[in-house]
Amino acid sequence: MAIIQLSQLSRHYGEDETLVKALDDISLSIEEGEIVALLGPSGSGKTTLLNTIAALDIPTSGSYQFHGENVPLGHIENMTTFRRENVGYIFQFFNLLADLTALENVLLVQDLAGKRDRKKAMGLLESVGLSGLEDRFPSQMSGGQRQRVAIARALAKSPRIILGDELTGNLDSETSTMVMEALIKTCRKEKMTTIFVTHDQSLTRFATRIIHLDSGKIIEDESGGLKSIAMTAKHTAESVVDNTVDGVKKIGSKIKGMAQSMLE
Ligand SMILES: Nc1ncnc2c1ncn2[C@@H]1O[C@H](COP(=O)(O)OP(=O)(O)OP(=O)(O)O)[C@@H](O)[C@H]1O
Ligand SMILES: [Mg+2]
Repeated sequence: MAIIQLSQLSRHYGEDETLVKALDDISLSIEEGEIVALLGPSGSGKTTLLNTIAALDIPTSGSYQFHGENVPLGHIENMTTFRRENVGYIFQFFNLLADLTALENVLLVQDLAGKRDRKKAMGLLESVGLSGLEDRFPSQMSGGQRQRVAIARALAKSPRIILGDELTGNLDSETSTMVMEALIKTCRKEKMTTIFVTHDQSLTRFATRIIHLDSGKIIEDESGGLKSIAMTAKHTAESVVDNTVDGVKKIGSKIKGMAQSMLE
């Protein structure tokens, strides 16, 4: 069953001559564990789509089901509960609380979800390469380090879905790669479903699926970098297994197994 199922979903602003169709009749199904890159020009509806999936925004029409259940859109308190229980959101400009240290920022999210776990929080900061910086305040860290705290924070309550809006938008390419690697490693390990908005085509290599939006519509939906690499490896391995002698067959089987595990 799909974890996210949007059916004929629209989000309009204004009316008549000021009408903007930020989302225009979107139907979309996302399976558990998919890593989706969301691309599209400015104003195409990427943030609106992410906010709808996060239950931060209410669509004008259409339905949103999460694990087959209707998301309580329109009921503010229930939307907040849904978000706390299921969604980790990483914003472009970190949104860290300046008066709290890196560790305290992570612990706060666990507290809000009623899941305080200091060991896990420390482990997450370590997994994004921030061991030793737990007690620093945001003002004492670089942009890349702050964004990695934001990632650890989003992951801290083990949400079912992780949403990132231009999460590397203001980082240089080397730091972007480091930040994305830290994120994707944990998401894959914990099989979290991930959707990230990016303007940077090169970051689609981290995705298993790439969705292009334009004028509030999905104009392209394709398999992404990770998946296509795994598919190619799997096909190559299959032809090796089919066509050659025993020793090589064994190597082929091994690669096939690895490729298969990447696809799972
Ligand atoms: N509160 C609002 N009131 C009116 N129009 C809005 C509002 N929020 C968004 N829009 C419009 O909805 C459309 C989609 O906006 P959205 O923020 O989703 O685009 P985006 O793809 O995230 O763009 P960007 O890449 O610039 O962040 C735009 O035309 C925008 O002007
Ligand atoms: Mg946006």
